[in-house]
Amino acid sequence: MKKTTEKIRVALGERSYDISIGSNILDRLGDNLKSFGLSPRIAIISNPKVYPLYGKRVSDSIKNAGFNAITVTIPDGEEYKDLLWIQHIYDELLKAKLDRSSALIALGGGVVGDITGFAASTYMRGISYIQVPTTLLAQVDSSVGGKTGVNHKLGKNMIGTFWQPKLVWIDVATLKTLPLRELRAGLAEVIKYGVIWDEKLFDFLELNRNKILSLDRDSLVHIIKRSCEIKAEVVSKDERESGLRAILNYGHTIGHAIETVTGYKRYLHGEAVAIGMCLEARLSTMLKFIDNNKVVRIKSLIESYGLPSEMPAGIDIKNILSSIQLDKKAIAGELKFILPERIGNVKIYKGLNKKVLKEMLRS
Ligand code: NAD
Ligand code: GLY
Repeated sequence: MKKTTEKIRVALGERSYDISIGSNILDRLGDNLKSFGLSPRIAIISNPKVYPLYGKRVSDSIKNAGFNAITVTIPDGEEYKDLLWIQHIYDELLKAKLDRSSALIALGGGVVGDITGFAASTYMRGISYIQVPTTLLAQVDSSVGGKTGVNHKLGKNMIGTFWQPKLVWIDVATLKTLPLRELRAGLAEVIKYGVIWDEKLFDFLELNRNKILSLDRDSLVHIIKRSCEIKAEVVSKDERESGLRAILNYGHTIGHAIETVTGYKRYLHGEAVAIGMCLEARLSTMLKFIDNNKVVRIKSLIESYGLPSEMPAGIDIKNILSSIQLDKKAIAGELKFILPERIGNVKIYKGLNKKVLKEMLRS
């Protein structure tokens, strides 16, 4: 069994950084911060669910490496990813006299990662931060690429920055405490990487489902590493989403609309994306960009991981359509879709005829 820590470089010039992936590596985090020239004052940002599980190991590791760590917790939940809790974080950082060379450590899922990144990007005009993601979704997606943000009452992730972390430290052993539903939601994003970029990853997901769902270490490291490599490559080529990075939104146009219309209560993000990927693949067959047998393969893989694949009953298609048009990624009302052409490749398709979309949603 491989025991080494895998390392991936996100190549962004002077903003480049490493992603380290291993099992039971939380205790080694502190030593790996020594080379960054940080001040001794560090803050761990976490929540009351994750901190009791992993906080002491992270905090001891940092203290043993010669840093003083304070801890700031925010309540657990998407509804606390807002400017009010940012204000609380600033208060605690100022009280503890964190300075311009200090760093924040995000210990938790995507919510903690996004809010910590935003706080780091604005505190004293920007300080360092380290991502220690503890959900699969955060490990394969949100901790990499530097999108930070908080929600506004008029829209999710409407306030944010691009601010790259100094290091992403992924301990796959933390997934042992993650609820199965959250694990599956993260797997939707891994399936996404297979469809948009890498048929071999897609094959691996088809062939190793039981191992992955039973948290086999090597299988997890493999799928997380491959996902991070793909995200790193895409982000290196298009950090600010002026082109290529949009392919990471496969399944997200319809997925976001489903989340909005169902009030963010019925589905986890990954579950809505799973439905979105199936419907956007169907759209692609209607436009004759992909063979239907590939669409069946995508849908089967999604379903085999216990993820939803159909538009929920009782949803008003009109609401889905208007939500798609209001998406922050739509430019001047023009619909932009990421459509698979085969497994391992997608195209960015602009100017979709609304009739085709309506027909697909009604079918
Ligand atoms: P989350 O952070 O809410 O975590 C899900 C739940 O799991 C929470 O209750 C959390 O406390 C708990 N948890 C976390 N780690 C755990 C562990 N190891 N054991 C037990 N419980 C654990 O949700 P998420 O899915 O990780 O992230 C969703 C957020 O990520 C959203 O706010 C979304 O907007 C954001 N996001 C950001 C990007 C980006 O590029 N910045 C990309 C995708 C998603
Ligand atoms: N989650 C999509 C992106 O980071 O661009």
